[in-house]
Amino acid sequence: MTTWLLWRTAKWIGLLALGYGVGGTVRGVGETRRMAALWVLPIGVLIAFISGFGMLEHQGLGFAEPWVLASLIAGVTSASGAALHATADRSRLGAGLATGALLAAIGFMVFRDAGLWFGLGLGGLGAIAGAALATVDTPPPDVDAIHRWFKAIAVAEAGSLLFLFGIAMPAKYLAGHPELIAWTGWLHGVFFMLYVGAVGVGVLRLGWGLVDAGLGLAASMLPFGTVLFERRMTKKA
Ligand code: HEM
Repeated sequence: MTTWLLWRTAKWIGLLALGYGVGGTVRGVGETRRMAALWVLPIGVLIAFISGFGMLEHQGLGFAEPWVLASLIAGVTSASGAALHATADRSRLGAGLATGALLAAIGFMVFRDAGLWFGLGLGGLGAIAGAALATVDTPPPDVDAIHRWFKAIAVAEAGSLLFLFGIAMPAKYLAGHPELIAWTGWLHGVFFMLYVGAVGVGVLRLGWGLVDAGLGLAASMLPFGTVLFERRMTKKA
């Protein structure tokens, strides 16, 4: 019971951070406030997803649950919409995606028995509200600030892959302890999703071409690849 309470508390902390990230990117006026929201956003995704995974493990459930998969997809969509709105075009599309998908994710999770349509309906209403409330008349943040944001995500992705290869996999295959790999695999999965979204921001806002984007994605397969890629793009800038 205590473990469940801890995960649940962590989940709500993650959701608050996610809400601040989405709200701040959609409504934030001024570059400082919008950049603060953009930093809190991936932290919120990370905490909400890790605690979600903890709750799943605790209940002995898996990803086959449609409400889990739907929330996962909606959560990633929401974070991508928020990043799009904050960094790229200040469009109502990004803002609508961010708020709509966040509400849909909450709908899928909380009203599981109501079915997926309920979450989608809630998401539709959220999308309309988000698009209407969005702040679209302020300029996007400066390019250096976005570079620093990308770097932090690239370093986190590289670190989690290194931990997976260097500690969790040897622990499973050489020492016979498979427990660690479920957690580090999922943690790395979350960083990977965030990294893919960040490469998308690079294309939209930092002027990266499709070859650069392809290289960026390929780099995520190699230990330290994302850090090397980030250095390459900083030199090129
Ligand atoms: C942005 C995405 C997500 C949102 C907005 C979200 C939201 C929520 C909310 C509001 C709750 C109810 C918490 C409570 O009862 O106090 C919840 C519970 C839960 N979440 Fe999520 N969640 C998300 C992603 C995930 C993911 C990716 C997973 C799995 C890896 C997950 C697994 C769970 C589980 C297992 C529960 C407990 C359900 C139960 O009470 O039986 N969540 N989530």
